[in-house]
Amino acid sequence: MITVGIDIGTSAVKLLAMDKDGNILRTVSREYPLYMYSDGRSSQEPSDWWNKTVDGLKELTQGLEPASAVSFSGQMHGLVALDEDDNVLRRAILWNDQRTGAQCDYLNNTIGKEKLLDNAANIALTGFTAPKILWMRDNEPELFAKISKVMLPKDYIAYKLTNVFATDYSDASGTLLLDIAKKDWSDSLLEIMGLTRKQVPTLYHSYESIGTVTPQAAKETGLPETCKVVIGGGDQAVGAIGTGTVKSGTCSVSLGTSGVLFVAADEFAVDKGPSAIHSFCHATGQYHLMGVTLAAAGSAKWWYEEVLSTQDYEKEQETMAANLGKNTVYYLPYLSGERTPHNSPLARGAFVGMSMTTTRSDMTQAVMEGVAFSLRDILTRVKELGHTVTTARIIGGGAKSPVWCQMIANVLGLKVEKINASEGPAFGAAILAMVGAGAYPTVEEACGNLIQATDVFTPNPVTINQYNMHHSIYADLYVSLKKTYSEIDVVKTALGL
Ligand code: XUL
Repeated sequence: MITVGIDIGTSAVKLLAMDKDGNILRTVSREYPLYMYSDGRSSQEPSDWWNKTVDGLKELTQGLEPASAVSFSGQMHGLVALDEDDNVLRRAILWNDQRTGAQCDYLNNTIGKEKLLDNAANIALTGFTAPKILWMRDNEPELFAKISKVMLPKDYIAYKLTNVFATDYSDASGTLLLDIAKKDWSDSLLEIMGLTRKQVPTLYHSYESIGTVTPQAAKETGLPETCKVVIGGGDQAVGAIGTGTVKSGTCSVSLGTSGVLFVAADEFAVDKGPSAIHSFCHATGQYHLMGVTLAAAGSAKWWYEEVLSTQDYEKEQETMAANLGKNTVYYLPYLSGERTPHNSPLARGAFVGMSMTTTRSDMTQAVMEGVAFSLRDILTRVKELGHTVTTARIIGGGAKSPVWCQMIANVLGLKVEKINASEGPAFGAAILAMVGAGAYPTVEEACGNLIQATDVFTPNPVTINQYNMHHSIYADLYVSLKKTYSEIDVVKTALGL
């Protein structure tokens, strides 16, 4: 049996074909444009996702036995709006878009955080879908009036394949329209956004099949009409499946463009504090907590490629292993604003502590450490919510760097493990497809069979102590700079930037 995992990412769609024993038979990736502007808008064309998925599927499946099932991992929160003829009304507004500050203020302060937490277990963040819906209502009323269906990025691809208007609980959690505890749409929040139940998809578990490929889609993609379409989930939950982060208390760290610390939980919990820890449904059918730092590997890419003009990341890190815990240059990784723990679209990056003897390597190390400190802020809050975490499984582009993995082990004070499959979300999606196709009875059992730890990075007690000192300096920096960030924003507005 073969299943296909499709990860609708922000820079590319990644496709993976896997057999029942977890052997990855082929991977294919197709990039598409991302439209980002300096005022914080970020969008993509859903037709690009579809066309590149179709193209990638053809290459992926060539010469392989026909796929029994496909499933998805999708960039979360993106607003895809269709009219009654299923035309896409506008470019999808993405998870990293920052245009919805006013709508978030309205939701958090006028509607009130208490109501949001009671109905959706989370507060409004610029990335979430509901503020984007309000933004459309406020700024594009003619388009808003035409909305017939609201869906998330991966749901659009599932819809194109099956004609079934569906989503799953994990991805729906990031809309701020789902009552997480009840696992149902919140009528009260739908009403606030000006939507009805008819305009939102039917909810499924991530491992459930929503139907099979339509004859038209089969012709376009080359998938057989018998192929089951399993709805899959948001990229964080599905990425966590791909690392085997399924049992309560297990943790994964993802070092993608954004950085995520994710903890699986059997019980539903809400963070009523200001840190904005997300309380979402997991793709296993249980729950999870997670925090997101918006520029993780994104910070590294910016530093290496934009600033240092190099692609040779490894060379830049050559001397770093001997210097862990000893760097006194600090970097705040808030290049795209920050979600957890500060929940501030105005926050920006900063370097502090340089002297005439500071080297290029010190600054590179500071960038990587700043991301690790930001992940530590998330872990601290998750622990405060009652979880004991001892080990984290690490994935994402940044996990290719052994020194970054070791740094994260020391900064978090956790054992950090790499695993036998590095594809993360696409692999997790192929596992969900396996479960949906009946090859394994549960996600847990599939993960237990298919995923093992390979490399282990053990924290060093001396370095942990050094990083404790550095982290408290790092934590004070945001407090010192908060006013400056607002002032920068005022100046930018005055300059028309
Ligand atoms: C999760 C989040 C990102 C996006 C894009 O809340 O915003 O992980 O899903 O990867």
